[in-house]
Amino acid sequence: MKRVVFAAAICAIFSGNAIADQMMDNTAEARGIVKSFLKNLKGELQKGMKSGGPVNAIEVCNTKAPGIARDASQNSGWDVARTSLKLRNPSNKPDTWELKALNDFEARKAAGEDPTKMEHTEVVEVNGQKTFRYMKAIPTGDVCLHCHGTAIKEPVVKKLDMLYPADKARGFNKGDLRGAFTLSKTL
Ligand code: HEC
Repeated sequence: MKRVVFAAAICAIFSGNAIADQMMDNTAEARGIVKSFLKNLKGELQKGMKSGGPVNAIEVCNTKAPGIARDASQNSGWDVARTSLKLRNPSNKPDTWELKALNDFEARKAAGEDPTKMEHTEVVEVNGQKTFRYMKAIPTGDVCLHCHGTAIKEPVVKKLDMLYPADKARGFNKGDLRGAFTLSKTL
């Protein structure tokens, strides 16, 4: 009897560790995907800005950003996207879980946490399937202000109005939370 209890305890410890290991592995994998997603996005943005300023670069974000997210998803087997509380593209709308995490990021920032390091990881059930979900906050940097700031130039405003009639992603200041990367993988 004692041995059975002992075996059960050992099992619990091992399975506990296995879950913690799996969380760590998945978090590391998600971080890697975000890194390369960000690199590709920044590369395209810089190319676009160099060749024709922000008006031209809008076209890059408009046409390339969804494609880069799609590529990241296809190459990794994860679902990869960006989302925000103030959307430019309505198809980036957060689901209930993401909305909670985004609000939580805002609360954590208000409490003084560094937004460049903010993450949220959780295993949740989606349609009865265990799913690993990961979000990483995206702070607003200087370059972002050309298209998301408080003093966007007229030609940029015109182009944004044309492409995104319901645009809410303006009026950000440097350091504000612009949104988050959101990744998920069925376990
Ligand atoms: C040249 C203009 C431009 C610049 C500069 C720019 N963005 Fe955007 N951003 C856009 C456009 C256009 C979209 C919509 C893309 C789409 O249709 O998916 C967008 C969408 C986003 C989204 C997805 C959520 C949403 O609102 O649809 C995030 C997050 C985001 N931008 C963050 C940033 C950050 C952070 C920076 C600075 C590093 C930045 N952007 C710089 C034009 C720009």
